[in-house]
Amino acid sequence: MPSKLNIPIKLKPTLTNNTMKRIIAFICTGVITASSAFAQTAPPVTAPVIGTAPAAAAPAARQRPPQTPEQLAAAKASQDAMQADYHNMLDQLHITQPLRPGRNGNDKTAANYANYDESKANPYPNYPDPLTFKDGSKVKTPKDWEKRRKEIVEDFDREVYGRVPKNVPKITWKIHKDTDEVVNNIPVNVKQVVGHADNSAYPAINVDIQLTLMVPKSANHPVPVIMVFGGQDFLNPPPPGGGFGFGGPRPGAAAGAAGATATPRPTPPKSAQQQILEKGWAYAALNTGTIQADNGQGLTKGIIGLTNKGQFRKPDDWGVLRAWAWGADRAIDYFETNKAVNVKEVAIEGHSRWGKGALVALAYNPRMATAYVSSSGEAGAKPSRRVTGEEVENITGTGEYHWMAGNFLKYGGPLTPGDLPVDAHELIAMCAPRPVFISGGSSGINGQDAWVDAPGMFMASDMANPVYALLGKKTFQTHQYPGPEVLLDGDLTYRQHSGPHTDVPNWPFFLTFADKYFK
Ligand code: GCU
Repeated sequence: MPSKLNIPIKLKPTLTNNTMKRIIAFICTGVITASSAFAQTAPPVTAPVIGTAPAAAAPAARQRPPQTPEQLAAAKASQDAMQADYHNMLDQLHITQPLRPGRNGNDKTAANYANYDESKANPYPNYPDPLTFKDGSKVKTPKDWEKRRKEIVEDFDREVYGRVPKNVPKITWKIHKDTDEVVNNIPVNVKQVVGHADNSAYPAINVDIQLTLMVPKSANHPVPVIMVFGGQDFLNPPPPGGGFGFGGPRPGAAAGAAGATATPRPTPPKSAQQQILEKGWAYAALNTGTIQADNGQGLTKGIIGLTNKGQFRKPDDWGVLRAWAWGADRAIDYFETNKAVNVKEVAIEGHSRWGKGALVALAYNPRMATAYVSSSGEAGAKPSRRVTGEEVENITGTGEYHWMAGNFLKYGGPLTPGDLPVDAHELIAMCAPRPVFISGGSSGINGQDAWVDAPGMFMASDMANPVYALLGKKTFQTHQYPGPEVLLDGDLTYRQHSGPHTDVPNWPFFLTFADKYFK
């Protein structure tokens, strides 16, 4: 039975902001019978776990475990490097006590099993108000918002995602391969391009960003580009039949892919790539692993390590999500040089960790037109103040801390999520006035995508809406969590699909949504 819950959310400062006070009513549907697709183990600080990503979402899980003595030694060295990085950051932050452990999303009998009781999900009801300046005065005009946005960006930079350093090396794009092919029965031009980072100041680290672009040959004018985070490593392709890690082929972007485990489909849906090319639009894939590796041991390498000349990060330096978002902006630099695409119509898509990256990319990159943010959850569109599914303490563990600025570790202990100066609704608001599509899968107890807290992502969208309204944009007209399969009607929109942790079901909805904005 669906249960109906009223959850009062206060926007701070509460006394001076009556118009922003709102009651958001949640109807918590549950209830999908198939068992959870997650195999998430929360990594406690004291007992780090290698490979914390869930089986459904993580192609990394399909990598063969190390077997030879050399491989085992290399794996241990890599874990030691991550531990050294993690503990260096704790030292810089003067954190001497263990952080609070994260939740276990897998084992229902575990003491720290994730909370799916909505009545316990909102212990931090005070949300910062995007439309109130830090000095308590109100944002009344779009001009005011420009100033207020800077306050929000500063907080996200310092405490959450980290700052992009001023001295990031220049990227020079070169075409690696340029061929005409037939893909999904559509004649396309395929370009593999490589963005080389100037490493003359620190030659020990080499960064070659890999971007693939497919443009239908039928295009007779510059076309929109839908760029997905993921992408093949075309410079070092995996051995035939071999595994691949993050940065490898996209799960969920293709029919029957890794994310779609539970629900049998009579007819496999068309892949995202095919849907995009059939619209006559360009498809691009950005290999995030070639910008920055998806782990803590990589932080002294990649674009972050190159910029830091192989040294550890400072607490407000960029984390991996911010680096991927920066890389997406460099891809736009390349698009600006390619006359086949319309650089004013570039969308970014990402699922799961890449969903977080896609939201960060739209929020920070003004040249990006829109985003499909799939199952981004904690550290994405889910409010960190929500104590359900994945929580801040999972992100501050050794398996995920690298996504964030070092300063974010403080909120896993000694501080709490309620101490964060900003939250997800303000990251979404940073995207305004540009259209954005937020989504996730089944929620509620036994929900196959409950870990990402789709009701919470609705709530964050609702709390971002006043900024869209201020900027004259259309907002969806409900404060009531709509449940699955309802497409809301706003420039900032939301649709939850029923089913597991995948971006497949919402692709057609996103493409129709984007079509409204593209010529
Ligand atoms: C884990 C992690 C999530 C992340 C997901 C992914 O489940 O807890 O935050 O989105 O992995 O595969 O990207």
